[in-house]
This record gives sequence, C-alpha cells and structure tokens, in this order.
Amino acid sequence: MTDSARYQQVLSTLTQVGQEHLLHFYDQLDPAAQTQLLDQLEQQDWPQLAELIESHVKQSPEIGLPESIEPAPYYPAAAPEQLTKKYDLAVKHGEELLRAGKVAAFVVAGGQGTRLGWDGPKGTYPATPIQRKPLFQVFAETIIKAQRKYGSIIPWYIMTSPINDEPTRAFFKEHNYFGLNPKDVMFFQQGTIPSFSTEGKALLASPGQMATNPDGHGGSLRALHVSGAIADMEQRGIEQISYFQVDNPLINITDPLFIGMHAIDGAQMSSKMVVKVAPDEKVGNFTLSDGRIMVIEYSDLPKELEQKLDADGKPMFIAGSIAIHIIGVNFVKQLNSGRFALPYHRAIKKVPHVDLATGELVEPTEPNAVKLETFVFDALPLCQMSIVLETIRENEFGPIKNAEGVDSAVTSRQLQSQRAARWLRTTGVEVADDAVIELSPLTAIAPEDLQQAEGLPQRIDPGQRTVL
Ligand code: UD1
Repeated sequence: MTDSARYQQVLSTLTQVGQEHLLHFYDQLDPAAQTQLLDQLEQQDWPQLAELIESHVKQSPEIGLPESIEPAPYYPAAAPEQLTKKYDLAVKHGEELLRAGKVAAFVVAGGQGTRLGWDGPKGTYPATPIQRKPLFQVFAETIIKAQRKYGSIIPWYIMTSPINDEPTRAFFKEHNYFGLNPKDVMFFQQGTIPSFSTEGKALLASPGQMATNPDGHGGSLRALHVSGAIADMEQRGIEQISYFQVDNPLINITDPLFIGMHAIDGAQMSSKMVVKVAPDEKVGNFTLSDGRIMVIEYSDLPKELEQKLDADGKPMFIAGSIAIHIIGVNFVKQLNSGRFALPYHRAIKKVPHVDLATGELVEPTEPNAVKLETFVFDALPLCQMSIVLETIRENEFGPIKNAEGVDSAVTSRQLQSQRAARWLRTTGVEVADDAVIELSPLTAIAPEDLQQAEGLPQRIDPGQRTVL
C-alpha cells in the first residue's frame, strides 16, 4: 500500500476515536518520518485504547475490590515445628532444580527511575558501600557465584524498554558482561502504550512521533513470550523464573527454599513478603479473596482493613509485597496461549509534548499527563495455586529508589554493610558495629558460603572499611 493510502486509512481510524490531531504535522515531515509515524500509529489497537481513554484516562478507574478480603496465608521465614520436614524437602528440591539448570534469573529494568534522578538506566547506578559497583554488576556476580555453587548455567533475562535498551546493552558490553557468558544473557524490550493528556488526547513527543511510556512491569508477562525469551528458556530446559526488580542489591536470586516450596506446592507464581513496619507502610498488601491470592496496593486498601486488628489486638494485614516472585515457565506460556489482560493502573506524570498550536516542545513543571501501566502482581489471582513466603527484611530488601531519605543509596549501602557484618559474625569474625564492609557476591551469596572463603580476617575494627 502506498503511504498516501495508508495515511487515509490511519486518518479514518484516528478520526473515529478522536485522535486525528496526531497527524497534525504530517505534511511538514519528510517522507521517511511520515512512514515512521504511520508505522507507529498503525501498531496501536485504537478501539481498545478508545475504551481505556473513557474508563481510565478521562477519569480514575473504578477499583473493583472483592467483597471478602482476608489476609493471605503465608509460610513463615523460619520453619514452624510441624513443617520442618517440608521446609527441608523444599530446600533440597530447590537445590536440585538449581543444579539441574532449571532456574533462570529475570530482572525487570524497563522503568524510568525518575525518582532517583539518575541519568541512565537504573541498573548502572553505583550501589555498593565501598567499591560503588553498579546494581547490574551486583546481580551478575550473584548469578556467577550461584552458577559456581550449583555447577549449572543460570541464564539471565533482562527486560528493558525503548527508553533504556541501548544504553543498557552498551553498559554490559563495555564491562564484558561482568564475567558472565554473553550467550547466557538475553535482553528484550517491553511494550509501550501512548501517554495521554488528562482530556484523553494522545500526546506527541515530536511532530513525527507519539509520546509513549513503558507499559509497566506487568508487560513482562507478554514481553517474555513475544521476545522469544520463553522459547529460549524451553530450549534450555528452564522451568522456573526468578523475578526481581532492578533496585534491590540485597536480592537472593537463587533461594532454594523459595524455589523449592513454590515447585513442590505446584504453584504457578509465588511471592515473597516482609512484615510491614507499620500498617500504613507504602507497599502492596498480600490478601486472599475467593481462595485467590492478590496484592492490593497501599493506596487501594480500605483504611478499615489497613488498621484492622485480630483477636490479640495485632494488625491483621501485615504482609507487604517486595516484588520478588518465582514464575513458572508453563504459567507464562498458558497466559499467552489465550487472551489475557491485566488491569491498567493510572498515574498522573510530567510528560514533555509538542504544543499543536505552536509546534514547540513543552516541558511541563507540573504533572500533565496520564500514564497507564499494568502490574505483574495482578497475575496472582489468575493462578490456580500461589504461595507466599516470608523473608526477613534486612536480609533481602534494601532497595535504591530515592535520591535521599528512605530507600536511598545511603540506606541501601548501610543495609548491605550490616548484612555482611551479620554473616561474618556467624563464622566467628569479630566485627565492630561501625565498620563498613563490602562483601562481594563472588565471595558469598549466603552466610554458609563464608565457611569456604579464604583470607577472612579475625576481626574488623571500629571505623574500618573492608572489602571481602
Ligand atoms: C514496587 C511495587 C510495590 C513494592 C515495591 C517494592 C508497584 C506498583 N509497586 O514499587 O508494591 O512494595 O516495588 O520495592 O510495582 N519496571 C519496568 N517497566 C515498567 C515499570 C517498571 O521494568 O514499565 C520495573 C522497574 O525498572 C523496577 C520495577 O519495575 O525494577 C519497579 O518499578 P517502580 O515503578 O520503581 O515500583 P515501586 O513504585 O518502587
């Protein structure tokens, strides 16, 4: 079809859904840019977007909470007496899966990371207490150590977005994949969705390009499939995917207990939780409705439930989500074999856009646009079986989200150093409270790895800075 015929068709589709302004500058574009714009506009599912604009853009969507909401059951971090055998069995099974090369690592790194104010992919952020290793290096070394420990390959899938795909790949190349075999590292991009004005008009990022945003980490469930990552996993015999976020250097990517418990319970997608520091902590809440596990974001959990106490006077909804999951390869395949749709969530953000009247780029100082995103945890209610395992916050959750204050590089580095100190003390090293310690994942990804470590000091003095 010629471009002029395509133009007519796109114009007619857009006119039907009130988005014809997207072609406002078409005549001023050179032919290549015209083709590119038509390509982008043709790729959208406009009838579906038109429905979303009515339900989610022009207004906040109705949050359809289930009638009965109970706290989700969970396995405690330490085995209760009646479950010690099951926990032991789970650890053994998890280790077997790791040894047999049936587990893949998967990081979602497509976010914009605007809160951190870091110019570049978030995974390139200097994370560690002394050497300032970037987050990606911490994960790479964690995987290398696990590969050595279990004598298998743990392929690593990295989801990026158009915003950061190129610089992410370049960063890995520049650093020789931090010692990983490039064959075992696969990058793929997540989907995007147009960004809208609050009146429901799709915005232009430039005269020849629509403004879009990544479609949320929920987009990973489709992107894993369309990118060929799932096919690659199947070829390698991978059964379980260890899912984590790019902001958390304390992540235990290959936790045998978590992997094993998920597998022996026959779960499709499982989650780790921490006990919230306070009922109103700003994290998702694990709940149970009609026998299905679901996460309700803190902003959506009704106040009376947030504050509800049990018979002993303790808060009932204590299970906070830290966005750590095991996802079955079969579950992702099953979702993608039919039409599955995760609900969209709406956020008002600052989106630069072209003013139609002047053709100038507007850099908003106040939030001006609606971004729609899906969340991966909204797949939990689609599972027949899903388990939640408690983990101890200071052992596994030290995210870098903000430039300062809570969940910043400063707090994360402290947590990394403190965890290293605790692990060293279990092997008999005397560690002063105010020492700063950087423990490389290549040395240990679990306290027991330190038993084999060579050259550990007997003591670390007050104020000392030590890299091990
Ligand atoms: C998230 C969870 C919150 C949880 C917290 C734990 C949501 C809505 N909330 O919050 O329940 O308590 O983590 O740390 O998720 N990402 C993509 N593509 C996207 C959007 C995000 O890959 O389109 C990735 C980011 O790169 C990041 C992760 O998803 O690795 C989390 O995104 P972010 O928006 O920072 O979530 P939080 O608000 O921190």
